[in-house]
Amino acid sequence: MALFVKKKYLTELSFKTEYHCHLLPGVDDGIQKREESFALLKKMQDVGYSKVFLTPHINPDIFPENTEPFLRRRFEIFKTELPADISLDLTLSAEYMVEGTFCDRIAPDMLYFEVDGKKYVLIEMSYYYISNEIEDALFKLSLAGFIPVLAHPERYLYLASSLKVFEKYHDMGCKFQLNLLSLSGIYGQGSIKIMKYLLGNRWYRFVGSDAHSIEHFEKIQTIKMKPDLFDKLLEISNLY
Ligand SMILES: [Fe+2]
Repeated sequence: MALFVKKKYLTELSFKTEYHCHLLPGVDDGIQKREESFALLKKMQDVGYSKVFLTPHINPDIFPENTEPFLRRRFEIFKTELPADISLDLTLSAEYMVEGTFCDRIAPDMLYFEVDGKKYVLIEMSYYYISNEIEDALFKLSLAGFIPVLAHPERYLYLASSLKVFEKYHDMGCKFQLNLLSLSGIYGQGSIKIMKYLLGNRWYRFVGSDAHSIEHFEKIQTIKMKPDLFDKLLEISNLY
């Protein structure tokens, strides 16, 4: 008789905080219209979130306008436009691409996010190659009093056969942020391998939707998984 394992819905987890999303409208490749941003925030509120960190891309090559002062201004305007039925605690943060100039731009007023008195900076690399500056960046962020958080490590498929690299980053003080959509398996076997490795080591500190649209967030709400994976995620959700 085949053993039937009942899967669990991701929505049964009680994540209260969104750490990674692109819903500050019209500043990057995320949501463009503020009405869609409001609708997504309402959806997040309805499924139980209470706090959202907005993390637009800071990448001078692709979004040259996105400096910290520019994004702060856009965020202030956005907050004044929020519908009255959205009571979420919103904070502006950012997702920094680690590229040639990044280390020179590490500064006390960068868009970090704060949890339990600790200051974290969300960073990313290209999906195609490892950043030349990544180790330098981890070191210099720590030196500046920040804890680096590497966004969606399970999406750097070129590292699936070099898992030791993650151990090195971990030993350098780097934390990791899981993209919830990755749990659906949409990014393939390499991604699953990385995810299992990091979950097995309990090295994911944060999860986020990385939502670029409402549809993106809605897909996440339909994800089902085996109980052992669910229990590992529960450990992360309990960290909040
Ligand atoms: Fe992102």
